[in-house]
Amino acid sequence: MTKHEHIRAILSDPRFSSNRRDPGFPSLSREPPPASDLKKLLLELDPPEHGQARRTVLGEFTVQRTQALGPRIQQIVDQHIDAMLAGPRPVDLVQAFSLPVPSLVICELLGVPYADHEFFQTRSGTLVNQKSTAEEVARATGELMMYLGKLVAAKAQEPTDDLLGRQIAKQRETGEVDFGDLVAMAFLLLIAGHETTANMISLSTLVLLQQPEKLAALRQDPAKTLAAVEELLRYFTIAEQALGRVAREDVELGGVQIRAGEGVLLLANTGNRDPQVFENADELDLDRGSRNHLAFGFGPHQCLGQNLARLELQIVIDTLFRRIPELRSAVPVDELSFKTDATVYGIREFPVTW
Ligand code: HEM
Repeated sequence: MTKHEHIRAILSDPRFSSNRRDPGFPSLSREPPPASDLKKLLLELDPPEHGQARRTVLGEFTVQRTQALGPRIQQIVDQHIDAMLAGPRPVDLVQAFSLPVPSLVICELLGVPYADHEFFQTRSGTLVNQKSTAEEVARATGELMMYLGKLVAAKAQEPTDDLLGRQIAKQRETGEVDFGDLVAMAFLLLIAGHETTANMISLSTLVLLQQPEKLAALRQDPAKTLAAVEELLRYFTIAEQALGRVAREDVELGGVQIRAGEGVLLLANTGNRDPQVFENADELDLDRGSRNHLAFGFGPHQCLGQNLARLELQIVIDTLFRRIPELRSAVPVDELSFKTDATVYGIREFPVTW
């Protein structure tokens, strides 16, 4: 499905399932998904299990709870800019800034030691790379699950005040701690929490450097950043290949007959350039002010971390260009390598200087 209207219709229609382990589920990966006896992730659940599972963590991601993380996010952003300014030039923005900032934020929120970031970043990189073989995916999943299993077990022994610690305490109040559930939740949040925002940071920096008049307008009036972030999310739609569903019954939509068991790919990227919804859709218009986009999906599975992602991007954009006004790409854009083979679009390496 390519049209905004149809994508929204499917994402909010209970006749379509999110079960990624269903044989009909569409995948752009060359390898079939590994048969898995692991607990289903939130992303894979259908009602009523999905609503129940989502409600257990929803409170951690409200606008209010997220806003409270603002000062700490600002500190993390400033520390990484300090380190960049003190270090050699050019520097790879991805490794020095885009990846560690959201990674540290999600680690602190969850209670995962950031010192282990190399371990989980390489594994989650394998998971979102469509060129990874089924064997590689299975190995990376197993290793991450094992790591998180040990972490959750340690937290059950010694309570901690972080998302995982609070979930353990909450489960204890109502009965037994379900380790499988907690590990599955930690796994999803850890991957979703840094692979996505990191790519948005690099891409947003690049496009603003390429369109200096837009960046100048933004710097003159930081009140515009929030709307700008929304437009950047629409413009890039980085989770462009992440949305799929499988039909549970026969459905007719937009003149297409979808039979029960068939998979549907929802091209949010195309939906976000639908001329019936967005005027001059191919243009980056930072004043567009539309939140009607599909970058975070739509319906019951709409991104749980969207408030956090928005806040991180807002702080990053406001701070990076204010603190390094002479920031520029150190190589011509056509020398950059883009992640066209991954579930999430982005830039692999982005050498910058100032
Ligand atoms: C779901 C995109 C950041 C956690 C989703 C979905 C999209 C998306 C498109 C819907 C998938 C579907 O319907 O099948 C993005 C983008 C981000 C971002 C573009 C950054 C710019 C984050 C962050 C977190 C997060 C920072 C965690 C802190 C999740 C979770 C789900 C989800 C847990 C599953 C929700 C559910 O199934 O109920 N995201 N995401 N995301 N996202 Fe994000």
